[in-house]
Amino acid sequence: MPAADPLVTLPAPLRAGQPFFWPNPHRLPAAQALAACPYGRADVEAAVARWQRFGPLLARCFPGSVGPGGRIDSPLLRQGDDHGRALWVKADHALPITACIKARGGVYEVLCHAEQLALAAGLLTEGGDTAVLADAPARALFAQHRVLVGSTGNLGYSVGVMARALGLGVDVHMSRDAKAWKKDRLRAVGATVVEHAGDYAQAVAAARAIARDDPQAYFIDDEASLLLFFGYAAAAWDLAPQLTAQGLVPTPERPLRVYLPCGVGGAPGGVAFGLKCLFGDAVQCVFVEPVASPCFLLRLASGDDTLSVYDIGLNNQTVADGLAVPRASARVAGLVAPLVDAVVTVADGDLLRMLRYQWNEHGLKLEPSAAAGFVAHEMMAGPCAATVAAWRPEPVMPLVWTTGGKGLPRDVFLALLAGGPSLGRLPVERRKPGEAGAMKSG
Ligand SMILES: Cc1ncc(COP(=O)(O)O)c(C=O)c1O
Repeated sequence: MPAADPLVTLPAPLRAGQPFFWPNPHRLPAAQALAACPYGRADVEAAVARWQRFGPLLARCFPGSVGPGGRIDSPLLRQGDDHGRALWVKADHALPITACIKARGGVYEVLCHAEQLALAAGLLTEGGDTAVLADAPARALFAQHRVLVGSTGNLGYSVGVMARALGLGVDVHMSRDAKAWKKDRLRAVGATVVEHAGDYAQAVAAARAIARDDPQAYFIDDEASLLLFFGYAAAAWDLAPQLTAQGLVPTPERPLRVYLPCGVGGAPGGVAFGLKCLFGDAVQCVFVEPVASPCFLLRLASGDDTLSVYDIGLNNQTVADGLAVPRASARVAGLVAPLVDAVVTVADGDLLRMLRYQWNEHGLKLEPSAAAGFVAHEMMAGPCAATVAAWRPEPVMPLVWTTGGKGLPRDVFLALLAGGPSLGRLPVERRKPGEAGAMKSG
């Protein structure tokens, strides 16, 4: 008898490209999952401390942009949802320097690399003041080196801005399909954009291969880097005092439910890891993916690192360009598979509707990827509520992580506002579309 096709056992809505809620059957209690993991809380704490050491350098490179002590963090905002309860928003769409969550990983890894180069050259001593990395001798050293990265756009920008600020060369490999304005802004900071006919995964593979043959090149691997992962994970330590300041105390009986937009999995995986280290089962992590690119769900459901969304008949075409990834990071999936509570897939039309709603009602300037958490919350609190209640009873404290958008050029944002279909389902828009012309921020 021929072996059964493993794809046949996948959830039907996944293969059909329909929005749905998927509780992760491989989830484990946080303590059990973390005990089996080669990394843990101490690794995240080390990243938090390293971030702090970079503060003086960031304050010197980006005066006026970063927070006190050179911190890169975003506010915690409060909205109400359609069900009359508080909906918290971790506003990384407005993160200093690059206005996207990928700065938490990309800026961090560039800084770690620069620190290593400076230590090796004797320009910095272990634990010394990192601000010297902006001095002329360090810049002369960095000018001989370059950083390579493959990106859907936002990681490349985060790496590009930081690398150029230090005087490092930077090549960003991107799919020809990636957004033109994301390429333009990279060129504007002095990065070289290398375009590939294939998708994001092929751009990453090309950058990796080039860097392998060049001793002066350093490759930032969006699919496998632990530095990126722990740079993102440190975000949990930023969120914790903000929750305390709001009097929010997550418990396993009343957990914080965090919605995280997911592409290759690095940013949501790292943040989820940090949150579970800090809060254990008092936090639920829900990853959110476009219906055409549910690569992380596919990896979790199949257990197969080699599968891509093309293998199940999906086309990886989505308005959420930051999430347009065909295959999940095997490394991140290997680390966080039992820490992901659930995955929700969302439709492009809902992302655009939500983008418009968040702008009109709350003045949040989001890119489509960053609206994903709101749509997932709407689904879990609305159409999927009965399934969700059977899975994990209420109450929860919902928190949406908005991951990018404040840096969108005005014309690009206006086109997104104008292009979204009016689907009429939750929630109702109260402002007139013309009022979007009031856009001044960002
Ligand atoms: C705006 C935005 N949100 C979320 C993500 C997801 O991050 P990751 O690809 O690490 O899963 C990305 C990735 O580029 C992004 O640009």
